[in-house]
Amino acid sequence: MALIIGGIGTTHVPAIGNAIAKGLQQDPYWRPFFAGFDYVHRWLAREKPDAVVVFYNDHGLNFFLDKMPTFAVGACNEYRNEDEGWGIPVSRAAMGDARLSWHIINELVTGEFDITMCQDMMIDHAVTIPLQLMYPSGDWPVKIVPISINTVQHPLPSPARCFNLGRAVGQAIESYAEPLKVAVMGTGGLSHQLDGERAGFINKDFDKLCMDDLAGNPQALTGYSIHELVELSGAQGVELLNWLAMRGAMRGEVTELHRNYHIPISNTAAATMVFGHRHAAKRQAA
Ligand code: DHB
Ligand code: FE
Repeated sequence: MALIIGGIGTTHVPAIGNAIAKGLQQDPYWRPFFAGFDYVHRWLAREKPDAVVVFYNDHGLNFFLDKMPTFAVGACNEYRNEDEGWGIPVSRAAMGDARLSWHIINELVTGEFDITMCQDMMIDHAVTIPLQLMYPSGDWPVKIVPISINTVQHPLPSPARCFNLGRAVGQAIESYAEPLKVAVMGTGGLSHQLDGERAGFINKDFDKLCMDDLAGNPQALTGYSIHELVELSGAQGVELLNWLAMRGAMRGEVTELHRNYHIPISNTAAATMVFGHRHAAKRQAA
């Protein structure tokens, strides 16, 4: 059976793509952020996931405001990126695992999560930047299942709903018959607001509370309404929903292995976290 080996949460700010393209990782502005990935690289080298299920939000590349699914699951063997208008290089394509995708889709719909299934899907910076950060050599030795959550056009799904989506995805992964090692990932956040009266808004206290509660007390975060979350984390800080889905997918024992928090990267409070996950069944056997 497939195993969920752990989770990664990371910011997906497009400017990181330019910093990588220009080799600015050691630049004083960028170093505190990139240094936070040293641990991630060691963890990936040790754990060697075969597949990564990525909870993210599309920012207008694949879905636009005319048709906006609340939840969409990719079912492709390849996902391309294109110019999104951020002035960053177009990324290479990511490999997909369409069989794992269809298993997840089947389980979700059976479990009454009526998602949109996508046999043709492009991935934006919210997937490509995290992959570039995880695998700086440019060799992406994993297949992905991208799951897009609408954090863009209101009404947005609630934190509790996103956490429960994660739980259903976790259950689906753990019932997949192939012996795959699967990492789950949530991208975006933490607090930021890119436009409007509060442009530039960052909430360090709330970000800390989120990072403190994610591993051991995620229920403290799932009680917020979307409007409370916008107020606390900013209009784009609601990308925390992707992190909550990632956390929900880990239904066993979850431990915080690593965190890095740095203000600002572009307009965002940048965070990187790694979580270990021990399956409930394994725990009983131990
Ligand atoms: C920025 C952050 C984001 O999450 C994003 O999708 C685009 C831009 C920023 O801080 O510049
Ligand atoms: Fe974003």
